[in-house]
Amino acid sequence: MEAIVAHDLTKKFNSFTAVDRLSLEVREGEVFGLLGPNGAGKTTTIRMLACIISPTSGSAQIHGKDIIGEPAAVRGMVGVQTESPSLYERLTATENLEFFAKAYGIRDPGEIRSRTRELLEFFDLWERRCERVAAFSKGMKQKLAIARAIIHDPPVLFLDEPTSGLDPESSKLIRDLIVKLSRMERRTILISTHRLEDAERICNKVGIILRGGLKVSGAPEELRSRIAGEAKVEVRLLGSASDYIRSVEGAPGVSGVDVNGSNLIISTWDPALTTPDIVRRVVEDGGKVLSVRPFLPSLEEAYLKIVEGMRG
Ligand SMILES: Nc1ncnc2c1ncn2[C@@H]1O[C@H](COP(=O)(O)OP(=O)(O)O)[C@@H](O)[C@H]1O
Ligand SMILES: [Mg+2]
Repeated sequence: MEAIVAHDLTKKFNSFTAVDRLSLEVREGEVFGLLGPNGAGKTTTIRMLACIISPTSGSAQIHGKDIIGEPAAVRGMVGVQTESPSLYERLTATENLEFFAKAYGIRDPGEIRSRTRELLEFFDLWERRCERVAAFSKGMKQKLAIARAIIHDPPVLFLDEPTSGLDPESSKLIRDLIVKLSRMERRTILISTHRLEDAERICNKVGIILRGGLKVSGAPEELRSRIAGEAKVEVRLLGSASDYIRSVEGAPGVSGVDVNGSNLIISTWDPALTTPDIVRRVVEDGGKVLSVRPFLPSLEEAYLKIVEGMRG
């Protein structure tokens, strides 16, 4: 079942088109990464999908509910953490969550208390629950902002650049929590980011958004090989590798050979076809092979290629 479906979603601010006929589908339980540089339209897309602003044209559904026709139903099903943390600095962690629980229509005081406790414990903030948010570190504020976003236990969660501005340690913590959130409760998560490591580590699917349009989407591995094309295979030998350039140069699928000390670096369009063949050739010519390692292009390379191609 699709949790999020968008079709030709468009947002114009006066004559400027911030999101341009964007279509996407996110399945239930998936962690989808909306990847793109600043100004690409990530926040605007999330704000439309979460019914914070209305699209100029196009349509979208969350679990089958239309963002234009049934905004109240959609709001109940989505949690959203936006760029600027929407917490009250002068309230404590507990007070913030209790406030938002009430704002989301949870009436029963017992339920408010238990949900607040559950979230504070999950996000490792229980010990700090009586401190004002103003005294929190950026990472703690971000955790509380995510807790706030899921106070009403929505099946779909939108996270807008959840690791931006955080140090590497806090970023990792947030990434781990996102993975935990998606695994434990089958929550569907759409996360926007310009950080590739976020996408590589936590998303099952990524889409690259540029100038308001979704250019490509797929599993990170899929995108990597589809866009960056060529892969490399490193063959490590006992002794110098330069003696074996000739052995592999003409092999089917090989588009280039480099040498780095005792390593042969072979470029190929089809590593599955090429690897056994080049190993056989090197061995037949007397080479002593110590190891064979494939190098897929990184998602970063794939991403840069797309961004450059679109700008050029
Ligand atoms: N309220 C607004 N009014 C005018 N332009 C806007 C508004 N919100 C966003 N934009 C513009 O739309 C484009 C996309 O913005 P945004 O969705 O915030 O990008 P991202 O989140 O990917 O950085 C940017 O050029 C931005 O300046
Ligand atoms: Mg943004």
